[in-house]
Amino acid sequence: MKELKITNQEYHKLRDIVYENFGINLTEAKKQLLVSRLQGVLRKYGFKNFESYYQYVVHNRDGNALSELIDQISTSYTFFYREKEHFDFFINTVLSEITDKLRQENSNDIRLWCAGCATGEEPYTIIMLMMNYLKERYNSWNSGILATDISNEALDYAKEAVYPKDRMGQLSQDIVKKYFTIVKDEDYKLIDRVIKEVTFRRFNLMNTDFPFKTKFHVIFCRNVMIYFDAKTRSELINRLADVLLPGGYLFVGHSESVETNYNFEYVRHAVYRKK
Ligand SMILES: C[S@@+](CC[C@H](N)C(=O)[O-])C[C@H]1O[C@@H](n2cnc3c(N)ncnc32)[C@H](O)[C@@H]1O
Repeated sequence: MKELKITNQEYHKLRDIVYENFGINLTEAKKQLLVSRLQGVLRKYGFKNFESYYQYVVHNRDGNALSELIDQISTSYTFFYREKEHFDFFINTVLSEITDKLRQENSNDIRLWCAGCATGEEPYTIIMLMMNYLKERYNSWNSGILATDISNEALDYAKEAVYPKDRMGQLSQDIVKKYFTIVKDEDYKLIDRVIKEVTFRRFNLMNTDFPFKTKFHVIFCRNVMIYFDAKTRSELINRLADVLLPGGYLFVGHSESVETNYNFEYVRHAVYRKK
């Protein structure tokens, strides 16, 4: 099938909506990649050129067109127990700090947010490790986790909670046995007890308004900011700081960093604490 071509003007228009909505700066070098990735979407809707596709995206009110566009640009690649040291630090150090503090405050509300959760492996890993560590004490805490992403496709996958073997990462056999069942001979389905602890919502991190009633103890925003330019990243980090409790933790991806002149101090590799 012949590839639909893009004009410079069409590319610049698409580039502008991508930047405005997602903070992602598409350079000229990304042009061919975007054109190839969007071929399927244009064919699906029967658009004959990129201008008609652009008009569809800007006039679509429910956000689905934007969600489909970001799916072609960013990757939802993730797996269970990715960057394992983070989870170990969370369980062995951060969790007991939070529960000690909550006991003093006579509260049992552990507030966790996984921002850019993709297909769900990250929030589910956190819940399984917490359940495994706290055992029957898990139920005495009102924990659970909010997990958000811009991609509807990724969120639908996450809610299904069925994963192929290559997504299982370094989860121990013990955890796999406890929290998964095998379906269709070779896929792994999470048990309902874990699934119901994660609340999945669509949320664009570019929103200037973060509408959370209560602040978080911990935010995981890992391997999301790699797509953003410096300005977008710094604005997002400020918004994340606003919704973290003082002393709360921010985990970013291992190849990402936060400048410590923000509201954060460095704790260890890719882990920061709100001052
Ligand atoms: C590579 S995945 C990271 C998944 C997981 N956090 C991890 O570290 O394995 C990046 C995710 O960020 C999401 N994302 C990109 N831009 C976003 C935005 N503006 N708002 C919310 N999510 C976004 C993508 O849809 C994708 O699912």
